[in-house]
Amino acid sequence: MKREEIYEKLEEINKEAQQGGGVDKIEKLHEQGRMTARERIDMLLDKGTFNELDKLVTHRCHDFGMEKKRIVGDGIVSGYGKIDGRLVFVYAYDFTAFGGSLSETNAQKIVKVQQLALKNGAPVIALNDSGGARIQEGITGLAGYASIFYQNTISSGVIPQISAILGPCAGGACYSPALTDFIFMVKEQSHMFITGPDVVKTVTNEEIGKEELGGAYTHSSKSGVTHFMCDNEEETLMTIRELLSFLPSNNMEDAPRKATTDDPARQEESLQTVIPEEPSLPYDIKDIIEPVLDDQYFFEIMPHFAKNVVIGFGRLNGRSVGIVANQPAHLAGVLDIDASDKAARFIRFCDCFNIPLITFEDVPGFLPGSLQEHNGIIRHGAKVVYAYAEATVPKITLITRKAYGGAYIVMSSKPTGADINLAYPQAEIAVMGAAGAVNILYRKSTPEEKQTIAAEYEKTFSNPYRAAERGLIDEVIMPRDTRYKLIQALEMCQNKSQSNPPKKHGNMPL
Ligand code: HXC
Repeated sequence: MKREEIYEKLEEINKEAQQGGGVDKIEKLHEQGRMTARERIDMLLDKGTFNELDKLVTHRCHDFGMEKKRIVGDGIVSGYGKIDGRLVFVYAYDFTAFGGSLSETNAQKIVKVQQLALKNGAPVIALNDSGGARIQEGITGLAGYASIFYQNTISSGVIPQISAILGPCAGGACYSPALTDFIFMVKEQSHMFITGPDVVKTVTNEEIGKEELGGAYTHSSKSGVTHFMCDNEEETLMTIRELLSFLPSNNMEDAPRKATTDDPARQEESLQTVIPEEPSLPYDIKDIIEPVLDDQYFFEIMPHFAKNVVIGFGRLNGRSVGIVANQPAHLAGVLDIDASDKAARFIRFCDCFNIPLITFEDVPGFLPGSLQEHNGIIRHGAKVVYAYAEATVPKITLITRKAYGGAYIVMSSKPTGADINLAYPQAEIAVMGAAGAVNILYRKSTPEEKQTIAAEYEKTFSNPYRAAERGLIDEVIMPRDTRYKLIQALEMCQNKSQSNPPKKHGNMPL
């Protein structure tokens, strides 16, 4: 064979692989407003950095005439590249090839990338768009999923794992994304469910459409399965890039620092008036979070789920921090089951990846009622204290107003291992509110007597000074100084070194 012919052959094979399931299938995808796997990867990664692996792999199935249907690449595009100059691994289901269904060989391609990512300490990004296990292959596709889930689990807490759902994701296939750290979905394009609408109708007689059952809105507001709901694929891919900018590549590194021109000592006058003079009135905790962060920028996660807790990333003097905050503007900021789950999982993520935790606290307590009790607020609420207590990253808490009862304890209080607890002068730190306390202690008193005692209780406990006298609050600060105080505390903890007793792993309440 002549040299030119040898090179031509390679170019031909590559071209064939490049086309996945064929031009007509690509066109169909485009007509639906969806991108191909390769287009998605190109948009996600820094230009020209993608190195594809296993591009020429084909399936080995001989059942149902599959031996006559081979597509070069077989429905997965996988490899490595860079985002903001940092190494990442990526795999994308190619819907044009057998509906992106998972074959034995596809699973091997994915596991190869997962193992390389783990060995080389770099994040894995999965772009899902698949009809599930390849039906013609039977058990081997299922076994393939199992090996992917195993790798997801082994990699958890070592490298960040991110999943985007850009099309269907059904059945057990949902569990790979569910095992990763963050899930992205696209409005009216992505669907995740264990069983689709037809099976739901057959088994339970419930009639429900796929959007309502498992669309982006459902999973970002009701189930809490997904962390980001995006308008389109481009926004999804760009948001993944941004998310990675807050994260280290693995658990042995710190997140990259981003130079800032924002003065660390910047005072913020608006903070002096955010807390209403009437303690029962709501305010938006983001009016405190945003002004104190670098460039006043807060990257919120799960904004539509359990809004009584706010979580997300920001930077303080260039350093990535995880924010956990009660939200008085929603359900008065109470902790309930969903809020506890949302907070605890995020706290654990930050701790895995050396991201300091900044907690803004204004919490009247846990939500009372049989619904919460019967659904297990005890074990869900316990997750919050567990997650904070076991976290060894720097932990700084600011009590902006209410810190009552068990909720005070679990929101990174000093005795649960927080490094610094700050409070605003408006802080109220007590076992419970005045009315509740008086009703228990002075049940038989007249309403007038109760009023007088309640006023005395408020005078005694509705302030931060009792806690400060006992060293449970390290400093009572002026709201305008919040940014500088947090940055100083963070810098003080910069070289924090703490480890928990050696163990296989703890037994977190789940
Ligand atoms: C093999 C599949 C396939 C699959 C789709 N295709 N799903 N091939 N195995 N699982 C093929 C179709 O035959 C078709 O091939 C092409 O992909 C595109 O599919 P369409 O149906 O034409 O596309 P669309 O109308 O957009 O519908 C997409 C879909 C639907 C909603 C995903 O195809 C579908 O319902 N697929 C089956 C989903 C499913 O039940 N999967 C198994 C789940 S169980 P041609 O040649 O015509 O282009 C499972 C177990 C996982 O996954 C367990 C993990 C632990």
